[in-house]
Amino acid sequence: MWGCTCAALLSVALSATEAQAAVPQPAIIPQPEIVHVGRGSFKIDAATRVILGVDRPELTAIGKMLAEQLGLPAPKFHPQSKALFDPRSAGTILLTLADESQAPAKGPEDPRRRLWEESYTLDVSAQQVVIRGGGPAGVFYGVQTLRQLLPAEIEAGCPAQLPLELPQVKIEDRPRFLWRGMHLDIARHFFHKEFLKRYIDFLAAYKINVFHLYLTDDQGWRIEIKRYPKLTEVGAWRDGTVRHRLDGQRDTQRYGGFLSQDDVRQLVHYAAQRHVMVVPGISMPGHSQAALAAYPELAAPPTKQPIQVWTDWGISSYMMDVGKEEVYRFIEGVLSEVVELFPSPYIHTGGDEVPRQHWMQSPFCQQLMKRENLRSVEELQGYFTKRVEQFLNSKGRTLIGWDEIVECGLPPRAVVMSWRGTQGGMAAARAGHQVIMTPNAETYFNYMQHRERSGPGHAAFLPLLKVYRFDPCAGMSPEEARHVLGGQGCLWTEYVPTAADVEYLLFPRLLAMAEVLWSPRQSRNEEDFLRRVREHVTRLKQAGVNCYQGEEYK
Ligand code: ACM
Repeated sequence: MWGCTCAALLSVALSATEAQAAVPQPAIIPQPEIVHVGRGSFKIDAATRVILGVDRPELTAIGKMLAEQLGLPAPKFHPQSKALFDPRSAGTILLTLADESQAPAKGPEDPRRRLWEESYTLDVSAQQVVIRGGGPAGVFYGVQTLRQLLPAEIEAGCPAQLPLELPQVKIEDRPRFLWRGMHLDIARHFFHKEFLKRYIDFLAAYKINVFHLYLTDDQGWRIEIKRYPKLTEVGAWRDGTVRHRLDGQRDTQRYGGFLSQDDVRQLVHYAAQRHVMVVPGISMPGHSQAALAAYPELAAPPTKQPIQVWTDWGISSYMMDVGKEEVYRFIEGVLSEVVELFPSPYIHTGGDEVPRQHWMQSPFCQQLMKRENLRSVEELQGYFTKRVEQFLNSKGRTLIGWDEIVECGLPPRAVVMSWRGTQGGMAAARAGHQVIMTPNAETYFNYMQHRERSGPGHAAFLPLLKVYRFDPCAGMSPEEARHVLGGQGCLWTEYVPTAADVEYLLFPRLLAMAEVLWSPRQSRNEEDFLRRVREHVTRLKQAGVNCYQGEEYK
């Protein structure tokens, strides 16, 4: 598949679909680029072996996970013979890499090269299963597809009960977008490391490769920073929570928690083994009241009152006083530890919903505006974001900000995450910036899946098929679309107190987002998607996932 154009592949896919009308089609999500189903099967039993065609630690890790799921011995490296089929390989599941000569010629940063590394072929014959990835990520995705070809019962527990039958298939597959993201706000409600691992498992199973871990907001600071211990001693705890979105009912219980640096390292490693990049979200200069409760000297507007970790939802009127040098020293101290913990090339620094007019009450902001000839509070925020970007760039990282940073003068290398609709993202793309599309009306999973207003989440309505109809490049010229890294679902947790609530809002909409971001645009088919969703809901139930099952999909 490696050298073909997309259009050629699609025409093969369509004619294959026609020719295969009589063969039961597997329920794979996201839908692969090409699927040919045969009539035979491969039997997995106690004698089956997982083998590796290339001796690389990433492949060993993938092989081990697969072998454990199937209750088979750990994988071994088998150098492959050049013969078309090596009889010694009968009864094996071979994980291997495509020939490097097939890779797009450009360097490692070339997007085509990165998409190629995530591509794979999966070939199931009666004798052998072969998964061949462009890179290790491709092998991992081939294994996720293989898992979906097995009966739903395997989801009930590990290891699976053998023997199992895999249908004969030939699959060729690769992603449409590089950024296939899912976010989780652990600031408004805190979720422990063990649940975050489960969340990463969910993402990885559906070929989502970015976990935007949103760590700080007005209501809680959730990551240990050694230089600033009060961030978690003070900032991780609040004295009450608004419980109900309709009547504003609240409790006065102390609530909180945070991830230690060791927790973060474990999570990042766990995610990397599943080819998920964890991108930390640290909010500034707004959405930072929890940090300001710990270090009130950094706050604007100036106040004589003590600042509390906020117990309301909404937009707080406190933010960082960006006129003060101490604020930049603080941010650089925090981000120095963050970049040590997260190898992600991207760090998300927020920038949304800043009540900028309050900066006018700060003498420090006024002095700075005069000194730097900044004519508005928008330009003041632009100055702030540029300094934060320069610091991140000095550490070899790229800043991501919400689309409010577009109206403040974009720093030269910033990536924009467009949430208030698509306009901010499109403007940034026209200015030559990379963008990630997460327009709230189509991608906010905290909106309800059903019209009846009970259950967790915000009152807006986002049914499954509305997510499925989302397109990150909608309304863009080809030149603008070239700047779209991909898209992301977001899950804000003001009204989402428990892990079961998170699962209820995530599923099955995660499946729609996964298909939007992975599968070819032309292959979208709502009827076939819903057929596959119903099978996946059965699988998710087997796995004990609290999936929404109301079927109010439109
Ligand atoms: C946002 O939803 N305020 C990014």
